[in-house]
Amino acid sequence: MYDKIFFVNLKYIFMYLPDGPKTSPLLQNIQFLLRPLETLDAWSEDYGSVFRLRGNELPALIYFSSPEAIQKIFTSSPEDLSSIQNSDFVKLLLGENSIIFLGNERHQHQRRMLLPPFHSERMRLYSQVICEITEEVISQLTPGKFFVVHSVMKEISLRVILNVVFGLQTGKYYNKLRQMLNSLFELFDNPLSSIFMLLFSRVQKDWGIWSPQANLMHQIEQLDQVVYTLIAERAIQNNSPYKDILSMLMEAQDEFGKSMTDIELRDCLLTLIFAGYETTASAISWALYWSHYLPEVQRSLLYELNCFASTKDKSEISRLPYLSAVCSETLRLYPIALNAFTRVVQKPMEIGGYQLEPQTIVNVSIYLAHQRKEVYPEPKRFNPERFLERQFSPYEYLPFGGGNHRCVGAALAQLEIKLVLATMLSHLKLRLITTSPIKPIRRGILMVPPSNFEMVVTGVR
Ligand code: HEM
Repeated sequence: MYDKIFFVNLKYIFMYLPDGPKTSPLLQNIQFLLRPLETLDAWSEDYGSVFRLRGNELPALIYFSSPEAIQKIFTSSPEDLSSIQNSDFVKLLLGENSIIFLGNERHQHQRRMLLPPFHSERMRLYSQVICEITEEVISQLTPGKFFVVHSVMKEISLRVILNVVFGLQTGKYYNKLRQMLNSLFELFDNPLSSIFMLLFSRVQKDWGIWSPQANLMHQIEQLDQVVYTLIAERAIQNNSPYKDILSMLMEAQDEFGKSMTDIELRDCLLTLIFAGYETTASAISWALYWSHYLPEVQRSLLYELNCFASTKDKSEISRLPYLSAVCSETLRLYPIALNAFTRVVQKPMEIGGYQLEPQTIVNVSIYLAHQRKEVYPEPKRFNPERFLERQFSPYEYLPFGGGNHRCVGAALAQLEIKLVLATMLSHLKLRLITTSPIKPIRRGILMVPPSNFEMVVTGVR
């Protein structure tokens, strides 16, 4: 037994691994937590597109950002390189059947069941919903009064996701779910409480009913009651009038004719809500920011939108080239997720010129891939035209990750960003409160706009 450990460690010591920062792992973590973008920029400046973190700690943790290495990672089979997420906190919330915790077979199985609700023909149905919700929410903004952009975008995004996932727009369950989800999301809004939960979830188990974890458990139980009631009610409805994801998943059967169990459904639905809510809200906030921070971007957008003002089919708007370019550039410059899900090497394999042993942790840095000067000249500049001038490969442009874990909600998220931006610009004249640049802040694993990002309605169009 000890011999085995000795030889495994020896193998690591003599393994030729990429260089990386020499600071202590603790300091690396702190730097990355407090100033993620600056820290990643500094590490890539010093060590290039591959670097190793955590000194000699095992297993090695390696960051990749070159298109060649990313291609290798995204095209490897799950038997060679698998995604392993092991956050107790997230598991508590989303459940063990959440797609993000499933391995090989079960993961592929759930993905097959999940993809149809996100097919392109479904997007036309969602388009109308997104535009109506946006119009309703922005009609409540008071002219002349400041509003926190991210809060308004979260309101739109939550209403869209509840509609798309559960078919809910009003009523008892809608109100209950909104209130419960808002209170759960508040845990993430408070950086201290979310860090506390992430770091101390095990310790808190001993603190009884007063611990933040007990409070979380209580909130999840209440949420579960509503979700299971919705599932039960839907099960006895014949010819459900709803065209939502819940109905589609309840009707779906796998290749053996088996449907999802209620627990699987619950975990799946909550995963979609949590994965799709703040990510999309943040992206829309950034798109709104850039289109008002740079007057020339707004001019080009308005010109394009005016040309298509008469179109009845809202999903047509989402195909407008300049609008699409603005949304792509928004997700390039400040990707909402800095990294794809962590992958772990299962069998010895070569990536980016390095021979990696099993258990090596592999991180694809979406942020650094989007900052490569040879792919994106002047990478710190917001320049939508670059997406009109050339096409980028899925290994150069990857805001939704890639390979067999690529975001299942990517099409919905892109549609929503474009339609909310287009609707807001077409209805309202807005102004930024501050003219100095704003930078993303960290919330959990996401990079989101700060709460001091405010705008004011100055008129209508
Ligand atoms: C701007 C918005 C969004 C961004 C930037 C984003 C980004 C990502 C990223 C980077 C991943 C990991 C992919 C990988 O490791 O290769 C992911 C996974 C996932 N996303 Fe999204 N996402 C967004 C919106 C959504 C929406 C709207 C939904 C659903 C309604 C969704 C559902 C999921 C799910 C279920 C996964 C796990 C897929 C799997 O493990 O197979 N996301 N997303």
